Amino acid sequence: MKNKVALITGITGQDGSYLAELLLEKGYIVHGIKRRSSLFNTDRIDHLYQDPHDPDQRLKLHYGDLTDSMNLTRIIQEAQPDEIYNLGAMSHVAVSFDTPEYVGNVDGLGTLRILEAVRILGLEKKTRIYQASTSELYGGMPENKNERGFYDESSPFYPRSPYGVAKIYGFWITKNYREAYDMFACNGILFNHESPRRGETFVTRKITRAVAKIALGLQEKVYLGNLEAKRDWGHAKDYVRMMWMILQAEKPEDWVIATGVTTTVRDFVRMAFEVVGIQLEFKGEGVDEKAYVKACSNKDYQVEIGKEVLSIDPSYFRPTEVDLLIGDPTKAKEQLGWVPEHDLRDLVQDMMEGDVQLMKKDVDLLKAGHEILKQAE
Ligand code: NAP
Ligand code: GDD
Repeated sequence: MKNKVALITGITGQDGSYLAELLLEKGYIVHGIKRRSSLFNTDRIDHLYQDPHDPDQRLKLHYGDLTDSMNLTRIIQEAQPDEIYNLGAMSHVAVSFDTPEYVGNVDGLGTLRILEAVRILGLEKKTRIYQASTSELYGGMPENKNERGFYDESSPFYPRSPYGVAKIYGFWITKNYREAYDMFACNGILFNHESPRRGETFVTRKITRAVAKIALGLQEKVYLGNLEAKRDWGHAKDYVRMMWMILQAEKPEDWVIATGVTTTVRDFVRMAFEVVGIQLEFKGEGVDEKAYVKACSNKDYQVEIGKEVLSIDPSYFRPTEVDLLIGDPTKAKEQLGWVPEHDLRDLVQDMMEGDVQLMKKDVDLLKAGHEILKQAE
C-alpha cells in the first residue's frame, strides 16, 4: 500500500515535532517546512532526521515561510499531500502585542495562503487540512461559558490579543473554505498543552526550567507576571494524537480539545517545586507577592528554608489578559473516542524530570571544568 503523505508547517515547534514522530510511526511520508535561521533551529526534530542524504528518509524538510505564497504553493505542489497540518505561527501571546502586523500576516493570512494554494493546485478534493486554532479565541469572557461552566464548540469568541485576533481570521477562513469549496478543512480549538519540548518563554516551561535550576543551586529566584491566571493545561502528546484523529473523521468539523480542569499559575509553581521536594509559602498581594521555601527534602541540593524564590515583575503583565480558560472536550471524546493519557500531575512530573536532567548536564559540565582547572594548576 502507498504511504500517506503529510505536510506540517511549524514542524520545528513543540507540536510539529510530536506530530512528525506520530505520523512517521504510522508510516507516513512527512514533509515539513522550516524557516531559514542564522542558527540551527531543528533541535526538536534532529532525532527524526538522521541522514538527509538517504533517499528512503521519510522525513523531508523544505525551507519556507507562511508569509510567502509562492514558496507555499511550490512546496504543496511538490509534496502533493493527503493531509496538511498548519501548525506554523508566531504563537506567543505576549509577543503578539509587540509584533501585531507580523502576527496578522503569519497566523491570519498564512492560513489563507495554505487554503488558497490547495485550491489553486486543484487539490481541494484530495488534501485534508488541519488548522491549529486556539482557546485564545474565547478570551476568557465569563459570560460566554456554557451552562456547565466550560467553553465548547458553540461558545462565542472574544479574542483579547493580536494573536487571538489573527487566529480568529484563521478559524473563519478555514470554515469559509470548507463551506465555499467543499474542502475537508477543520479547526482544532486546542486549549494550552505543554511538554518537556515547550518553548522556554511560555509560563509552564519558564517555571520548570527555573525550579530545576533553583533546586540545583544554579539560579536564585524566578520572576513571573500574573499568578492568578488560570489555564486548562494538557500534554502535547495527547493533543497531536487528536490532530490526526480530526483528519481521519468522517466529516470535516471543528473540535475543542481540553482537559476540563483549570489551575492557577501559582498552583503550577507549587506543583513544580513539590516534584523536587520543596514546599513553598506565598506571602503578600498583587505585585508584592513573593514565594519562600517552607520545607526542603531535596537530596541533590538543600535550598535554605525561608529563601525567597519567586517575585512578581509587572513587565510580564499583558495589556489585556485572558483570566481563565477551561474547555469541554465532550464532543471529541464521544465522537472520535479521544482519551487523554496524561493529567496535570503527570505533565508537571514529565516537564520537571526533563529540566532537572537538562540542568544537571550544566552542573556536570561545571564540575568537569573545575576538574580541568584544578589539574592545570
Ligand atoms: P511553537 O512551539 O511556537 O511552534 C511554532 C512553529 O511555527 C515553529 O516551528 C516556528 O518555527 C513556526 N513558525 C513561526 N513563524 C513562522 C513563519 N512565519 N512561517 C513558517 N513557520 C513559522 O508552537 P506550538 O506550541 O507547537 O503550537 C503549534 C500551533 O498550535 C501554533 O499555531 C499555535 O499557535 C497553536 N496552538 C498552540 C497551543 C499550545 O498550547 N501549545 C494551543 C492552541 C493552539 P521556528 O522554530 O523557526 O520558530
Ligand atoms: N509567558 C508568561 N511568562 N506567562 C506568564 C508569566 C510569565 O512570566 N507570568 C504569568 N503568566 C501568565 C500569562 O499572563 C497567562 O495568563 C498565562 O501565564 C499563560 O501564559 P503562556 O504560557 O504564555 O500561554 P498563553 O495561555 O498566553 O498562550 C498559550 O496557549 C494558547 C492556548 O490557550 C500559547 O501556546 C498560545 O499559542 C496558545 O494559543
